[in-house]
Amino acid sequence: MNTGLDTVARAARTAGAPLSDADTRSLARERARDLLARHDAVLVAHYYVDGELQDLALETGGCVADSLEMARFGRSHLARTLVVAGVRFMGETAKILSPEKRVLMPDLEATCSLDIGCPPDRFARFCDEHPDRTVVVYANTSAAVKARADWMVTSSCALPIVADLKARGEKVLWAPDRHLGRYVQQQTGADMLLWDATCVVHDEFKGIELELMRKEHPRARVLVHPESPESVIRQADRVGSTTQLLRAVSEMDADEFIVATDAGLFHRMRQMAPGKTLLEAPTAGAGATCKSCAHCPWMAMNSVDRLVQCLSGDARTIAAHAIELDPRVIRDARTCIERMLDFVAQTPGAAASPAGGFVPNLGAA
Ligand code: 13P
Ligand code: SF4
Repeated sequence: MNTGLDTVARAARTAGAPLSDADTRSLARERARDLLARHDAVLVAHYYVDGELQDLALETGGCVADSLEMARFGRSHLARTLVVAGVRFMGETAKILSPEKRVLMPDLEATCSLDIGCPPDRFARFCDEHPDRTVVVYANTSAAVKARADWMVTSSCALPIVADLKARGEKVLWAPDRHLGRYVQQQTGADMLLWDATCVVHDEFKGIELELMRKEHPRARVLVHPESPESVIRQADRVGSTTQLLRAVSEMDADEFIVATDAGLFHRMRQMAPGKTLLEAPTAGAGATCKSCAHCPWMAMNSVDRLVQCLSGDARTIAAHAIELDPRVIRDARTCIERMLDFVAQTPGAAASPAGGFVPNLGAA
């Protein structure tokens, strides 16, 4: 898509005039669009990345989604290269599901505290100690951890999957997020042994401060991602994955929301529900220099400029941005992911469907 701004920026450049910030951004987006097309690449972005990158994904036929939808989208899309703007486990999941595709990330160092908190060797020992339990891992883990699991789940489908395992009489070993694990355990009543790791972003939300904020905004509805502490989840009107929270803002009959998740989601929420008031849930008390500052430092490593760098070098530079996994790890990790995708496909309502409609060039999800 070419905008009037692009033309202005080009004219200014030709005349030797300094470019305004808006012109510079416009040129960067134009370059990114060209590079995506030239490499037959599609951009698969998470809601927590920079808003400019989210817009670019939607403008170019990619997607902005939660981790479940990102996996489904990447697997089904016809492009030969997937550019995953998110964190490492999202790129690995894309590669596991589509080993024949090239999977690039703007920054391969973008990781996740849950992934860091669950090293494969320690996790394997934990599984060895509990051979009677079905191993269920959250998507936010390394490929090596997934290779050891029976099931992968995301926050979008963890409840129905664990409820189904419980109905079949299975005991669960859960890793790594202990808040999500406890929430799933409480909701389903399943016998679950929990690993002890947390998300550095959601773990910071404060229940006491949230109570105070709700008193100041008595009409606001509270939306909470289940990686948050129990004291926060307890106050929620809706608990769900990023897509489910986004949907709640559009669908719920309220004008004001307090949202306990990464601030990156607000960009899409504002687009999907213009006119509604969105308040960031508190991560600290009065007097703190930052009272609501939930933003993932690893998601923040993604930007349009990093995407341009990733795609504009020679073959070696581009290869340095590619996810590479041992074929045996791919084979072993794939089973638990496909089990989840099959369950979601066969179970109506097991997960939120994509928010914001369908996109071109996508096969059946
Ligand atoms: P979602 O699956 O809800 O997008 O969550 C991923 C994540 O990393 C949240 O912190
Ligand atoms: Fe991981 Fe938390 Fe960042 Fe999500 S927000 S990627 S769970 S550290």
